[in-house]
Amino acid sequence: MQRVNNATHDFPYLSEAAVYLDSACQSLRPQPVLDALNEYYTTFNSCGERVKYAWGVKTDARVNETRQLVLRYLKLKPRDHFVSFTLNTTYGLNLILSQLRTDRIKKVMTSDAEHNSPFLATMTFAAKNNLPREVMTRRDDGSIELGDYDFDGALVVVGTVSNVDGRRLGNIDELIKTVHRGGGLVVLDAAQGMTFGKELLEKTSADAICFSAHKMYAPSLGVIVARRDLAAQLDTTFIGGGMVDDVTGVDSYILSADSPNHIYTKFEAGLQAWGEIIALGAAIKWLENVKSSAQLDELSQRLYDILRGLPGVKLINDQPTPILAWYHDKLDAHLLAEALSDQGIMTRSGYFCCHYYLDKIKHYPPLVRMSLGLHNRSSDIDAVEKLLGKVFK
Ligand SMILES: Cc1ncc(COP(=O)(O)O)c(C=O)c1O
Repeated sequence: MQRVNNATHDFPYLSEAAVYLDSACQSLRPQPVLDALNEYYTTFNSCGERVKYAWGVKTDARVNETRQLVLRYLKLKPRDHFVSFTLNTTYGLNLILSQLRTDRIKKVMTSDAEHNSPFLATMTFAAKNNLPREVMTRRDDGSIELGDYDFDGALVVVGTVSNVDGRRLGNIDELIKTVHRGGGLVVLDAAQGMTFGKELLEKTSADAICFSAHKMYAPSLGVIVARRDLAAQLDTTFIGGGMVDDVTGVDSYILSADSPNHIYTKFEAGLQAWGEIIALGAAIKWLENVKSSAQLDELSQRLYDILRGLPGVKLINDQPTPILAWYHDKLDAHLLAEALSDQGIMTRSGYFCCHYYLDKIKHYPPLVRMSLGLHNRSSDIDAVEKLLGKVFK
């Protein structure tokens, strides 16, 4: 396959007038991903894992290919890890935490700058298991000062890339090593980290990673990548679908999820979103084929420079990333988002599910967030510059 120099060509349906700056929520889907989804629904729409006819055999092959592609993308080995599909990052984190045995866990830890997804899941975990919960402080660069905390027996649930300003957990490897040395576990929220900041996740030794395919150019879908040895530490409470091999009585069943070949069904109760899983495979191939993110970096830098130069604008970022958040010292963020929307510029306003950090710790007013993706063109930034220049004059 020829490598794509400029990924924007793969969004032919996008009109010039539509300036989509909400990729941190859901990225737009490139044509090859839509084609893969359409191909499934129009040519071999069938169930996986149970079917003997040809369509089902093809579905199985493609779904298994996606599992392998996810591991290849993260430079992980099928010998050590398995891939399960679910609804989204939030569901994946809750699914793991709600089934995790707590024999070796003494406390649960997260950080102050997390998305509600890990922030709330750790709250529920602590309350349900009557364990202490500790909220660590993120440094301005996104890292955690490891010397400040005792990680003995800790379950640590943190994000790798912020959905507010793209800051990264730069010392992730040291964190994981420290937690493992203390006998604990690390579960990563990689919702933002699977595209920008992916290198933090490659060859990771974290115990599990949860992410959302809809933030990496694929259809709506959640993914859990877990170490095989994590499976033994879970009490399966969501049972059904492909994980059941046999049922012998009223409350007796045999789980294929306990066999190494079907371990991925551990998190897959019931029929799966086969078409979406297959299209995730297409998205990974597309991402691997994108030659460089130079254009995205350039646009991020340009937008960062524009925002920094606007009177009254307080930018949260201290460096350019594809996710930029800001507020104006006099104008309400929601009104600004509406004004931008009137001109076809789609942004987000509010606290982006980071209420604790943005509101309770930082005491920021609601923010405007502009998040870029591989579909963005230089004309999108021109449109923002023109409109904001006019508004703030
Ligand atoms: C860092 C981060 N974590 C978790 C989530 C939750 O993702 P989902 O809504 O797909 O579960 C998001 C969504 O924006 C996010 O940005």
